[in-house]
Amino acid sequence: MRQYIIAGNWKMNKTVSESVKLAQEIVQQVKDIKKTEVVIAPTFLAAAKVADVIKGTNVKLAVQDVHYEDQGAYTGKISVDMVKEIGAEYIIIGHSEQRQYFHETNETVNLKVKKTLAAGLKPIICIGETLAEREGGKLESVLQAQVEGAYKDVSAEDALKTVIAYEPVWAIGTGVVATDEQAQDTQKFVRSLVEKLYGASVAGALRIQYGGSMKPDNAAGLLAQNDIDGGLIGGAALKADSFFAIIAAAEAR
Ligand code: PGA
Repeated sequence: MRQYIIAGNWKMNKTVSESVKLAQEIVQQVKDIKKTEVVIAPTFLAAAKVADVIKGTNVKLAVQDVHYEDQGAYTGKISVDMVKEIGAEYIIIGHSEQRQYFHETNETVNLKVKKTLAAGLKPIICIGETLAEREGGKLESVLQAQVEGAYKDVSAEDALKTVIAYEPVWAIGTGVVATDEQAQDTQKFVRSLVEKLYGASVAGALRIQYGGSMKPDNAAGLLAQNDIDGGLIGGAALKADSFFAIIAAAEAR
């Protein structure tokens, strides 16, 4: 059985002191969570301090992006070695906001995925269609290009270390959530894309999160779907109570 993974993507929210406080609250709340993997992704600025707070607990650290070069003259960027040194385990790659506002492409996603895996860290690879793409009949071709692009030259063994976050762009931060059926149908399709690349056993083991307005009141329905193995949570991850309610919904399954 695939282990649920609930990850909080804090985006550009919380100062360092606010991040430390939220991390402390989350650590308290989830201390008895056993089955569900819990991950938080603060800003780069807060990540090292948050790492100290969650050390030795059942909360794991992610960051929200990384550069694909090792080091050098890349003002504003962070390398995988820097992320690794502070003890992060996951790196969110290819978030739709990165794609939309910061020129992330399927090619740069692929470079970042390979760099992350080479460092022994685990990518959470974000994919998803816009409303215009869905309504224009391009859902499947967009997802196919994103999946094939992200996994180009990635071995099956490495693919198993990755997580996919399917996030319909029209559901992110809008309060409009995909229905359980829409999410399930699409995630099943995403798993079929993984199967085409790596075969049934990798596709059956790889975890696919849903993201986009997942909240305490819709989490149980989404998490009950066969091909939904967790959530990448934005807004509802910014308060310990609502984040915990989603974790509890996963743990109860
Ligand atoms: P949301 O964000 O939960 O606020 O919709 C999800 C995400 O972008 O990861």
